[in-house]
Amino acid sequence: MTSYDACIIGGGVIGCSIAAELSKRGYKTAILERGKAGNESSRAAAGLLGVQAEWDEYDPLFDLAKESRRMFPEAAAELRLETGIDIGYEEKGIYKIAETEEELHLLEQAAAWQTAAGEPALMMTGRELSEKEPLLTSALAGGVFYPKDGHVIAPALAKAYEQAALARGTEIFENTAAEELLVSSGKAAGIMVSGGKVIEAERIIISAGAWSTPFLKHFQCGMETYPVKGEMISVLSRKRLVHAPIYKNGFYIVPKREGRYLIGATVMERDYSKHIALNGMMGLMETAARILPSIREASFEDAWSGLRPQSSKGDPFMEEHPGIKGLYACTGHYRNGILLSPAAGKWMADLVEKIPAGGH
Ligand code: GLY
Repeated sequence: MTSYDACIIGGGVIGCSIAAELSKRGYKTAILERGKAGNESSRAAAGLLGVQAEWDEYDPLFDLAKESRRMFPEAAAELRLETGIDIGYEEKGIYKIAETEEELHLLEQAAAWQTAAGEPALMMTGRELSEKEPLLTSALAGGVFYPKDGHVIAPALAKAYEQAALARGTEIFENTAAEELLVSSGKAAGIMVSGGKVIEAERIIISAGAWSTPFLKHFQCGMETYPVKGEMISVLSRKRLVHAPIYKNGFYIVPKREGRYLIGATVMERDYSKHIALNGMMGLMETAARILPSIREASFEDAWSGLRPQSSKGDPFMEEHPGIKGLYACTGHYRNGILLSPAAGKWMADLVEKIPAGGH
């Protein structure tokens, strides 16, 4: 029998960030991962840190998202120092664009709300957009620039958190599926894994993304997560196409290093399949070519899909079970797992240590 202070179900970017933080604070921590760490939605993500691009109006998660975005420069430096991995952190802003006057009006409303919330939001005419990003179509009605948003290389971030967790003492058990949570006298006691082996732990944290539902049944309030599949394409271009991500209604083109551009992403609810339909790819390519005509000349590199973990309440579950001591959930980060990963690690470690929010 193996015993830990904390055992995390799920080795995605959220689970690894929590493990890295708990190990740093001296907790003997393990991660159980049914496949390979960081190999699901963490690997598939575009890596947008789109706090303002994703939220157009107030949501309780907006504040945590802002806090997480603020943590990235330090997290990037710390992860690089500890693991040697460059997470490709870029704070060059995100452009949100409008093709019609109606869309521009909605952007104006969003920008006014952002400004009132104390976040910079610069409205731009179509001409001003063309001055900044000359290869965008000249047919745009305008847009808004959010200078504090940015992006990272999602697979690098997931790998960096995994390596940091390992370096700080976390043990990661890959190809090890959690099968049953063990609760004794109202307290978390451990997890039974495939083959019947028991991992003892006083604290269990459910971070299994779209696969969390079977474990969440202990919360007995209908909590569930489900997949929202997204398909994405990468292309390569020697010519610089855009300098910062271009975003429109959930569609985006994200410039990465070495001439790579990610084009994403489709949205398919409750689809666990990984296949990439031509339909989705064609929709992405058509929108990309309309907004950024020069992308037609780029070379196709790859296409993939990932399963965003949506939660039944719309926002992530990041809480301790009210009745079972030591049982926690941190899952359902939907479109924002990469963005929220630094804050989620700290939030959950603070919960474990009973440090009130905003403490330290
Ligand atoms: N964060 C962007 C997406 O989920 O497509």
